[in-house]
Amino acid sequence: MKKLFVSSILAIPILISCEHSNNISYIDNNPQVVQIGEQASKKLLKTLKGELVKAISKSPYEAIEVCNKKALNLTKKVEEELNHGIKIKRTSFKYRNPSNKPDEYEEEALEKLEELFEEGKNPEYLVQKVKENGKTYYRYYKPLKIQNVCLMCHGDPSKMDKKLLAKIKSLYPEDKATGYKLGDFRGVIRVSIPEELVK
Ligand code: HEC
Repeated sequence: MKKLFVSSILAIPILISCEHSNNISYIDNNPQVVQIGEQASKKLLKTLKGELVKAISKSPYEAIEVCNKKALNLTKKVEEELNHGIKIKRTSFKYRNPSNKPDEYEEEALEKLEELFEEGKNPEYLVQKVKENGKTYYRYYKPLKIQNVCLMCHGDPSKMDKKLLAKIKSLYPEDKATGYKLGDFRGVIRVSIPEELVK
């Protein structure tokens, strides 16, 4: 009897630490979620990068147009190709387009990833299980790091091409997405996977 009492007390902090009040929990490793997430995020990266490289080779100003007019549409297109109710988004604390602003689950994932990077770890992904409007989803997060090619549009404003910076400012007056250095954690690709897709 006494033993049971002790173990039930011990169980309380454990439950609190993994079940958040806002319907969120963290999954260590579900191979199916990781596989779907990996596939979806790679597909988006490949699509966006392909368009970006093509446009930059013409002119950086044209590349801005690609990011501005096409990024969200290309994301939608990848989503449609993936089908099965999978949803995909790019997000960051320092977002450029307000449509990419993180929701509360994304904020928590971004914070966790930031902490891991600060601790010198190099997480390849993070997986949450969340409830959205009564439906359960797995959320796979793929961290994105700043590479050389990104600095042109997300780097130190004083070193950026003046015309390019002016163009960015005019399209995104509230832009937060500059001031990054090579290797910085820039944000994530978030893939939402309906629970029923995972057996
Ligand atoms: C030619 C300029 C340009 C380059 C190069 C570029 N970006 Fe962006 N980036 C943008 C623009 C413009 C947006 C806003 C897109 C939109 O309106 O949806 C953006 C948005 C993003 C977002 C979505 C969150 C937000 O801020 O709205 C992420 C994440 C991102 N970029 C990461 C990167 C990474 C990583 C690289 C390098 C591999 C990169 N970008 C290279 C211009 C650029």
